[in-house]
Amino acid sequence: MAARLLSGTETSKQIQAELLPQIEELKRAGVIPCLAAVLVGDNPASQIYVRNKMRACEKLGLHSEHITPPTSSTTAELVGLVQELNRRDDVDGILVQLPLPPQVDTQQVLLAVDPAKDVDGFHPMNVGALVSKRDALRPCTPAGVMELLRRHGIDPEGQHAVVIGRSDIVGKPLAFLLLHAHATVTLCHSRTRDLPAMARTADILVAAMGRTAYVTPEFVRPGATVIDVGINRIDDPALAEKLFARHPQRLEKFRQKDSALMGDVHPDVVEVAGALTPVPGGVGPLTIAMLMVNTVAAARMRRGQAAAAQRSGVAAAT
Ligand code: GUN
Repeated sequence: MAARLLSGTETSKQIQAELLPQIEELKRAGVIPCLAAVLVGDNPASQIYVRNKMRACEKLGLHSEHITPPTSSTTAELVGLVQELNRRDDVDGILVQLPLPPQVDTQQVLLAVDPAKDVDGFHPMNVGALVSKRDALRPCTPAGVMELLRRHGIDPEGQHAVVIGRSDIVGKPLAFLLLHAHATVTLCHSRTRDLPAMARTADILVAAMGRTAYVTPEFVRPGATVIDVGINRIDDPALAEKLFARHPQRLEKFRQKDSALMGDVHPDVVEVAGALTPVPGGVGPLTIAMLMVNTVAAARMRRGQAAAAQRSGVAAAT
């Protein structure tokens, strides 16, 4: 039987609709939350991600600023830019889109972001708060995965969660969020021995390693919940024919567009998993929703509404 599809698109809409009363309240107090996004260079994927983030702000009536320093920017220049955004009272959230060009020291730039405006949750202070389960801004994709599970009635408590991928952006923070939700967590990576066997022990399996269709049915215990964090573009017709061999509608769509988005999970997993996030329309929209949640929470917290933000914000619940 085909897996239940966990729609991130729907959940993202719900989360953003729930933000509207908070945004209205801020507006009544004369505040329009503002997100500043820094996109260095011309990475096409990053350009699309940032454009989608700006659009989400616009739809919710938030201010946004798109800053595009050149690819040749130095660490010192970017740190200076971030410090300027820290000083600006009208800016509530600062997002530095990753990856940064190779000559830039990413850690130094992230360290420069005011933790109170760190809507990505990447500053070491916020990372520390996450590890020790204190209220703070949480990284958007992991927080989005937790919201997706919660809103689909999938409780990690007592379950074995296996996360494949140990990135600072997804794998590591998600492992801690699952642990705080009382899952037993195994964090796997490229050097894990017999990865398919380890993955098959999961009740909740998260694929977040950035490798197209890597998680095949042999990784999945029948009935498991599978969360696909990957977003990869495929444009090779031979590869598409192979991956979509049992999915004629998706193959047809590929042929119409000459490309398709594919996660880290193989399309055939839909026949084995109990629940599965689609790509596109799964985890991706959740990342944006949680960025909006964090931007509104940052605006409220900076204006002394910390207690209120903690009580009512989705971020505080994750
Ligand atoms: N690059 C990939 N994912 C992210 C993200 O969530 N935030 C930022 N800033 N950059 C990213």
